[in-house]
Amino acid sequence: MQLQVLFIIALLSFAVAQDRKITPQLNPGCRSCNDNTTLVYVKCQGPSDTIHQIWDFTRKLPTVMIAVASFNSTLNIIWGGTVPVRFDISPPPSYSFATALDKLYEYDDLDDNGHFDPKFPHHDHKLDHLVWHLNNSRLTEKDAMVQVYATLHNERDGEYGTVGIKLDLLPYKDYATELPHLIHTANSTLFDISLVNLTTTSGYNASRYALHLVLASTDSVTQTMHYTLRKSLDDEHTPGVFEVIEIKSPALYNEEVGGYLQFRPVGYVQPERGVASSTVAHVSCFNRTSLPRYSTLRTFFDDYGKANLLVQDMMVSFGEPGDGYYRQHNYTAWSFSVGYGAPPTEKFSWFVVLIISLGLGVPVLLALSGVAYVLFRRHKQTNSRTRFENED
Ligand SMILES: *[C@@H]1O[C@H](CO)[C@@H](O)[C@H](O)[C@H]1NC(C)=O
Ligand SMILES: *[C@@H]1O[C@H](CO)[C@@H](O)[C@H](O)[C@H]1NC(C)=O
Ligand SMILES: *[C@@H]1O[C@H](CO)[C@@H](O)[C@H](O)[C@H]1NC(C)=O
Ligand SMILES: *[C@@H]1O[C@H](CO)[C@@H](O)[C@H](O)[C@H]1NC(C)=O
Ligand SMILES: *[C@@H]1O[C@H](CO)[C@@H](O)[C@H](O)[C@H]1NC(C)=O
Ligand SMILES: *[C@@H]1O[C@H](CO)[C@@H](O)[C@H](O)[C@H]1NC(C)=O
Ligand SMILES: *[C@@H]1O[C@H](CO)[C@@H](O)[C@H](O)[C@H]1NC(C)=O
Repeated sequence: MQLQVLFIIALLSFAVAQDRKITPQLNPGCRSCNDNTTLVYVKCQGPSDTIHQIWDFTRKLPTVMIAVASFNSTLNIIWGGTVPVRFDISPPPSYSFATALDKLYEYDDLDDNGHFDPKFPHHDHKLDHLVWHLNNSRLTEKDAMVQVYATLHNERDGEYGTVGIKLDLLPYKDYATELPHLIHTANSTLFDISLVNLTTTSGYNASRYALHLVLASTDSVTQTMHYTLRKSLDDEHTPGVFEVIEIKSPALYNEEVGGYLQFRPVGYVQPERGVASSTVAHVSCFNRTSLPRYSTLRTFFDDYGKANLLVQDMMVSFGEPGDGYYRQHNYTAWSFSVGYGAPPTEKFSWFVVLIISLGLGVPVLLALSGVAYVLFRRHKQTNSRTRFENED
């Protein structure tokens, strides 16, 4: 008994020790940065190593970079004006993984399928003219969070819309408070994006939007990212959605530790998230590509030869047949988590365990009491019969 208690205490303290000590900073070491410069560096010290996370908006493309290095490693950012020109991590990281949103596609979904189909008219809205404004931030030892937005100009008719992004790192494992309640860990960042009131291109009568993401990892260029679809145990946390999609880097796929994206195939068409305001998120296949030319990704992965850097892209599009396209709500939002380690899996909550035990337990109890009753009756009958026999 005592041994069991000790074991449980040991397990618990182990679980707590797994969490990382985080130190977030905005534009560290930058002298000429202004209100329009947003680069967040989060140092995440764990029991045996340090994860350096960089969230960058300085070169327009929203980017999350993760470098895993030894416990005592340090990261130093060299700035050239308001953009980072070098990241010095010493000793050098053992593994890095990054993702960036580099394009926004608009497509005319003439068949009303929901997903992007290259056979229909489409074009990309380049993000390189965007200015990201810092709307809100919380940079503490318990939570690193920034919220930024940018105005998207549509050159053709001079109209616009807003792209909003929220990044959040909470250094422990739990479900995010907002739908779709993805799981965050000390090794991951929640990435939430919304496309609000975008002016659709004139000439398209069935406009929808898709996000184009670049993924990069320090894996061999001959390998590939892996798409996996996992059925979750229940839909308690994301009503109506039983699937979890994971994009795994080769390191994770082959050696069980590496970079990943994790999300549910669901987006939202209204700021108030719920089953009624959800839509389907569709994921394309991967293509091989190169790092965007003028990007912080390029600066970050500068030291890696082409052979040791895997760069692929993918597209995520939103909608389902008969939903009235983007213009129905003029709003599309989506969340994913980007992290390192093994993607977290959901567990049955106590509530679900209780329901299941009741569901299984009550029939078993009923069956058992039935059996007991029959046995009892038989026993009584035998007894009374014996009594008669004795009387004879
Ligand atoms: C920030 O960007 C806006 C344009 O969105 C510009 O008007 C403003 O001058 C910029 N601020 C600084 C300090 O550069
Ligand atoms: C980290 O540095 C401190 C002081 O410089 C040293 O005491 C400690 O052993 C180092 N830890 C590791 C894991 O190298
Ligand atoms: C989008 O448009 C709606 C309706 O016109 C308006 O209420 C809302 O504030 C706009 N949102 C943004 C972020 O511009
Ligand atoms: C959109 O326009 C195309 C032709 O340009 C037409 O075939 C299609 O029916 C239209 N769709 C809707 C939903 O109006
Ligand atoms: C990958 O390439 C194919 C063929 O060129 C293209 O149809 C598809 O849209 C590309 N996917 C992405 C995510 O760019
Ligand atoms: C969405 O915007 C278009 C104009 O871009 C407008 O015609 C439509 O009514 C808007 N829809 C909603 C739900 O506000
Ligand atoms: C976080 O990463 C470390 C290795 O750096 C790994 O041991 C640990 O299991 C990871 N934690 C989670 C929750 O993925």
